[in-house]
Amino acid sequence: MPRLENIGCLATCANASGQDAIGLIRGAALVWRDGIVRWAGPAGALPAEYEAEPAWNAGGGLVIPGLVDAHTHLAFGGWRAGEFSDRIRGRDYLEIAAAGGGIKSTVRATRALDEEALLARAREFLSGMVSLGITTVEAKSGYGLDLETELRLLRVYRRLDEIGPARIVSTCLAAHLVPSEWATDRAGYVKLVTERILPAVAEEGLAEFCDVFVEDSAFSADEARRICERGSELGLRPKLHVDQLTCGGGAELAASLGAVSADHLEYVSKAGIEALAAAGVVGVTLPLATLYLNQTPPPARALIDGGVAVAVASDFNPGTAPSYHLPFAMTLACARQRMTPAEVLKGATRYAARALGREGEVGSLEPGAAADFAIIDAPDVEHWLYHLRPNACVATMIGGEVHHGRAGDPR
Ligand code: NIG
Ligand code: FE
Repeated sequence: MPRLENIGCLATCANASGQDAIGLIRGAALVWRDGIVRWAGPAGALPAEYEAEPAWNAGGGLVIPGLVDAHTHLAFGGWRAGEFSDRIRGRDYLEIAAAGGGIKSTVRATRALDEEALLARAREFLSGMVSLGITTVEAKSGYGLDLETELRLLRVYRRLDEIGPARIVSTCLAAHLVPSEWATDRAGYVKLVTERILPAVAEEGLAEFCDVFVEDSAFSADEARRICERGSELGLRPKLHVDQLTCGGGAELAASLGAVSADHLEYVSKAGIEALAAAGVVGVTLPLATLYLNQTPPPARALIDGGVAVAVASDFNPGTAPSYHLPFAMTLACARQRMTPAEVLKGATRYAARALGREGEVGSLEPGAAADFAIIDAPDVEHWLYHLRPNACVATMIGGEVHHGRAGDPR
């Protein structure tokens, strides 16, 4: 049974509740077998039976559960740097979208790529993510918006999960926008989603979740309800993009649908916060999207104080969050959402796993969980998220095996 020793500080995130409860152990050891954690605790309390095992050396660094990015749009064609500049010059996100840019422009670029090309691009992004300490990634479709391309994107995700090393959790976001060819027949597109796309996705077992962008410019609450109810019938649990650009009662809708998460929440209302807390819906905040759209951050403090588990994710996509740097998003969550580093770590590990229905499997280091962890060159969590560097991750282990850097050779 391999073990990791010389851990300066271990954040187990083994506590199910408490946004800032990250189970810190100074001077710790970690033991795993067959890719699963068997024991985690103070080095001095290591059971004698594990002492003879080969030991890896954490070099006195910080060890955290592998980061879980609970919200990405991982596979897409093209980029939209021009829109970035346009927005800086004063053009609005919705104005750009109404003129045929935004999501529609990425849909055109995505439809033009075959499965191999999409796979190659996403693989490259994933390898960068793993080097940052990210070990589980939620990936949404949503840039196909027709049966063929939505399935192509989700098949790419299935292949990426099979190839590894990162674990992929797939979400069907066929309801990202009504595509141009359906502009004069919204009901027809909703029907295509509920009668063709979602059943085909379920039939092939290509996704676990069904997502809808609930917004005046995308789908109404009624349309979202129909789509999510159909998804639920087919075994796809709901997850929603809500209250990002306007306050549309999206959080309340997510709560009433029993969604596993409600994502964005820049405009969530007080009633929305209460509804999320009562229904146990995870609030997923996306600080990079807030930053790139130059918005006021979501009310993370009110969410936490109101009893909502808050996750922090990248929202990696070519429009509103063109970066997969989750540690940077985490630092932003501290500085702009006024969350402490410990609260943010919980939000990018255990609570992110909860937003994916994977709590206890990934995002925590406790017996029975995957031996997915990152060794960080920092004395503690506070210092790590305060001193932003291109990459403070010294090594990434997935299923107990090194997939980035060096974990101090076993001896
Ligand atoms: O999460 N809000 C909707 N979807 C993405 C943006 C998509 C895009 O602009 O391409 C988001 O921010
Ligand atoms: Fe998104």
